[in-house]
Amino acid sequence: MFELPPLPYDHAALEPVISRATMHLHHEKHHKKYVDTLNDLLAKAGATPKNLEEVVRDAFGDDKARKLFNSAAQAWNHTFFWTAMSTRRQTLDGALLQSVARDFGGLDALKAAFVKEGAGHFGSGWVWLAAEGDALKVLSTHDAEDLLVHQGLTPLLVCDVWEHAYYLDHKNDRKAFLEAWFEALPNWSFAQSQYAAARGEGKAWTHPGPVESAGGTAALDARSN
Ligand code: FE2
Repeated sequence: MFELPPLPYDHAALEPVISRATMHLHHEKHHKKYVDTLNDLLAKAGATPKNLEEVVRDAFGDDKARKLFNSAAQAWNHTFFWTAMSTRRQTLDGALLQSVARDFGGLDALKAAFVKEGAGHFGSGWVWLAAEGDALKVLSTHDAEDLLVHQGLTPLLVCDVWEHAYYLDHKNDRKAFLEAWFEALPNWSFAQSQYAAARGEGKAWTHPGPVESAGGTAALDARSN
């Protein structure tokens, strides 16, 4: 079974862009629900996957495994999202800054592209800064879809644009959320290490693997009460 990874910071650490209340709901309700559903489906199928990436890739495109894909990909996306945010405002430098200048014309232009992509995305989903080898891209994906199913793309940053990510704090103003998010929260040092991995230096981030479950789904049910 997969565990709900703890947040890497306090619930209030991303304020004022993301409130403590949003973080509690987002992590302990939304994210946890995806992990619980994932574990339930895996237990019912008698599946013991080696890692979450394998679950996402195997379930993608299979109509009968749509619920499994949605749960697994959302579990992965949320853990990546928490990791790709920082509690202190970071400055971007080094190879990634040079490539941002080359591919977008600068950090302000990257921000504008990222905000435009996320604000213009219809419905629920995710907006990503990704690398295809050395080249940087901004793109969005719908619902649970992530970049694991897009061969050759390595995610550097992501922002959740499901309404549950911003509605308590920014109401319907997704654009304002994205602007504030991009100014304050990107974990650029994490993005740098992902960018290095995209270019063959080191390994890209992977989700924590499954753990042994003494009580199977019974333990999970007990924990959620
Ligand atoms: Fe979310």
